[in-house]
Amino acid sequence: MKKEQVVNCQFSAWYPLFKKHTIKSVILALPQNVIDYLLDDGTLVVSGRWVPYMSTKAPQWSDDETTAIVTAPEFPEFNAKVQEAINALGGSVFPKLNWSAPRDANWIALNSSLKCRSLSDIFLLFKSSDFITHDLTQPVAPPSQLVLRKWSELIPGGEFRCFVKENKLIGISQRDYTQHYQHISKQQLDICHAIQEFFTNHIQYKFLDEDFVFDVYRDSQGRVWLIDLNPFGEVTNSLLFTWEELTSGQNLRAEQAEGALSQQDGPLFRYTTSEVTVQPSPCLSYRIPRDFVDLSTGEDAYKLIDFLKLKKNQQQEESDEEA
Ligand SMILES: Nc1ncnc2c1ncn2[C@@H]1O[C@H](COP(=O)(O)OP(=O)(O)OP(=O)(O)O)[C@@H](O)[C@H]1O
Ligand SMILES: [Mg+2]
Repeated sequence: MKKEQVVNCQFSAWYPLFKKHTIKSVILALPQNVIDYLLDDGTLVVSGRWVPYMSTKAPQWSDDETTAIVTAPEFPEFNAKVQEAINALGGSVFPKLNWSAPRDANWIALNSSLKCRSLSDIFLLFKSSDFITHDLTQPVAPPSQLVLRKWSELIPGGEFRCFVKENKLIGISQRDYTQHYQHISKQQLDICHAIQEFFTNHIQYKFLDEDFVFDVYRDSQGRVWLIDLNPFGEVTNSLLFTWEELTSGQNLRAEQAEGALSQQDGPLFRYTTSEVTVQPSPCLSYRIPRDFVDLSTGEDAYKLIDFLKLKKNQQQEESDEEA
């Protein structure tokens, strides 16, 4: 995969091309001091209120309680811009960076979702997300943008990932492949046609590359919306396909010849059938134990501090015993 393929899939590169067919969004430049704050692996304190926070990246806490309640870094100018954008987008947004959303961090939010109403909501998610750290530190091009997208209640069964090779739509996969959705098996031909038509009318030959992956949402009226663009290659999850199949095309042709799931020469459509055992959600491993969440969301945040101290003492005793 070439560097340009990744660069072309940055939000700011594709959004102007497909604005009419995707969710309304605002792109804001990320000031360097905000980037530094996001990468600083310390206690999370935002806008005066402090959030019990334990970094998932370096699980350790300080002996000195005063460091746990430091003054929040304030970014008044940036905060005002973010709030203005959130208001313009209807009051709640889905945040991401140039490429990634903090999908691995929804467990830390009080509402267990990526829905944000303020900069402090966004900071909480971003500082807890390895996906965001990955974007901030990857070598291709430094991320310099915060993307705010109007919050939309997307039903997972309506999301599909589409694979395009040499400007031809070769495969479509159900995005949430961990579940069986009855409506998908019932409407497979309609879904496939609607996505193929959307591709031909609005996407084909209009992107900066001839190989790419695009995500769509088919709403309850059957209208198709563009959600995201991703590089055609290993960095993108191939869901119900393998990258080997997608790049060689061999399996796909054989399956198509069997006349299986789609019209001849159209894309191959794969979805989870009822026989498949329902799989665990892919982001499950990023979560922390339920007990810990209960403690941290309890009214008395000091309970969490006591809990951490107790744990620390226990560990200290264990290591003393080992020594
Ligand atoms: N505007 C929105 N409002 C609410 N939910 C959204 C919105 N945009 C995306 N989502 C949800 O978040 C999920 C991830 O969004 P998106 O594809 O933009 O993130 P990503 O980091 O690029 O993911 P991937 O790594 O899979 O490419 C989507 O599948 C969708 O369920
Ligand atoms: Mg993506």
